[in-house]
Amino acid sequence: MTATILDGKAVSLSIQNDIREKVLSHFSPETAPRLCVILVGENPASASYVRTKCKMAEKLGFRHEVFHFDEDVSSAEVEERIDACNADPECDAVFVQLPLPKHLDAVALPNRVRADKDADGLTRAAMGALLLGESNAFEPCTPRGIIRLLDAYHLDLTGLDAVVIGRSNIVGKPMSLMLQRRNATVTMCHTRTKDLASHVRRADLIVVAAGSPELVKGDWIKPGAIVVDCGFTKTPDGVIHGDVDFGPASEVASYITPVPGGVGPMTVISLMEQTLESALKRRGGKA
Ligand code: GUN
Repeated sequence: MTATILDGKAVSLSIQNDIREKVLSHFSPETAPRLCVILVGENPASASYVRTKCKMAEKLGFRHEVFHFDEDVSSAEVEERIDACNADPECDAVFVQLPLPKHLDAVALPNRVRADKDADGLTRAAMGALLLGESNAFEPCTPRGIIRLLDAYHLDLTGLDAVVIGRSNIVGKPMSLMLQRRNATVTMCHTRTKDLASHVRRADLIVVAAGSPELVKGDWIKPGAIVVDCGFTKTPDGVIHGDVDFGPASEVASYITPVPGGVGPMTVISLMEQTLESALKRRGGKA
């Protein structure tokens, strides 16, 4: 079997068209949704993610601004900037790029964003709403994007045995809740899981967010399984690796995300969708 590619780039393109139409019909360039990004330090991957988000914002007709701080910035300074964005009526969404340097609190700082500007879905309010199954709250962008991608291919998750590898706040934890909401039976695996391969071998759906290049081997994949790879590691030779050994896995899976071009574009477009949603709500419109 050769798997169907879950083409995040193509699905993102069709969502981009919808967003652009809404921006044109609801806003002028002066009132367009405005995304404020907070970036700390010089992590090349983070800088590259921020550039990608800004390019996409530009393409969609959004206003955007990056507040870039030195690596050794104090927490108080970043807090002050988040507070200013929270108070700024022209700002619709605040995004704190992670990871942050060790001296900064990677939970408390994103949580400082006002709930109605939390297009990244990482505040306590958004996470709590997800846990309680409340609708209409912002959701963490990567798992939201993955669900959008699976929906675009009309994949019914009801009753599937899903294995999520990685228990981060950004991906693993919220992903498990969203998959349960779609009636999958979810097993959470992580760095301390005994015999990871045995869990993966019986999974109908695998979501890997481990940050460990080619961790999941082709012969771990059950024939016909759906494979979603959130990994994105650039090795010194410039090659980008996912968390799945793509070649052999794609021979066995029914559907698989490529890296790049799978989950990444869906994360970015989810942030844009939620920024638009915030702008529409804040101006009394509808998404
Ligand atoms: N870094 C990598 N992915 C993400 C994400 O979804 N949100 C934030 N804030 N930072 C990230």
